[in-house]
Amino acid sequence: MPELRKLTGYIGAEIVGLSLGEEIEAADAAFLRESLARHQVIVLRGQHLDRSKQKKLNRVFGSPMRLPYVEPLADDPETIAVLKEADEGGGGVFGGEWHSDFSFLANPPAGSVLNAVEIPEVGGDTVWASQTAAYASLPEDLKTLVDGRTAVHVGKPYGVKFAPPEETRSGASIRMTRGDPEADRETSHPAVITEPVTGAKALFLNPIYTTRFDGMTEEESDPLLQAIYRHCTRPDFSCRHRWQAGDIVVWDNRTTLHYATNDYDGHRRLLYRTTFQGTPPR
Ligand code: SIN
Repeated sequence: MPELRKLTGYIGAEIVGLSLGEEIEAADAAFLRESLARHQVIVLRGQHLDRSKQKKLNRVFGSPMRLPYVEPLADDPETIAVLKEADEGGGGVFGGEWHSDFSFLANPPAGSVLNAVEIPEVGGDTVWASQTAAYASLPEDLKTLVDGRTAVHVGKPYGVKFAPPEETRSGASIRMTRGDPEADRETSHPAVITEPVTGAKALFLNPIYTTRFDGMTEEESDPLLQAIYRHCTRPDFSCRHRWQAGDIVVWDNRTTLHYATNDYDGHRRLLYRTTFQGTPPR
């Protein structure tokens, strides 16, 4: 029976004693789904999965999802390479701001699987913040503001606020496409959603894609959103993963925010990412 070890008080668990082979037993699959719902981020070290096994693991959590903007591997539309080359340097990195992936879609990803292939000796950690813990401890005035409210999300890369010029990329190794109408339109989601298994409420707002609350302008929304972001990205609600090649991390994209640290210029970093779908956030 695999063992589960919590990583922090609020978020993250490492699962030990489970080797993800060709077939994943039904009982192990149920344990993985339950662990993800309860802990929001699950870590399995030393797995060294090939891409076919990674896709089998991805299917344990939901149907594979094609993503707008980011080009998948030429021979594998279910997988993207999260790659920064040693000589890329400067500028940003893919995922280098607190966000929930593709929250601008009508049905944003339920979660993703990252599979570490090549990792710098130091740096390139990923950080996740629990939005259930953030909601539970949100000051009453902000809770009153977000409860029952919807917010607007826009995908024009990095949100209309930070939209870079056409044909730019977040990093030379990750090919980004532009002008995808599915991503560029405004979509509204509840500012607070419910995790379907645990019933926990989570904030569903993020600094990249959320532009405003419905019924308010961007100028009116901004100070309120900034106050919420200061709260919901507090280190108290976060866990940080120091990658090693062979690690697998699965996260719930709806009830967490995540952030890729960019502190490893001069070193190559490669992870394969697959993404799975669920029902739309409610
Ligand atoms: C992402 O999926 O946002 C990137 C995560 C990472 O590179 O650590």
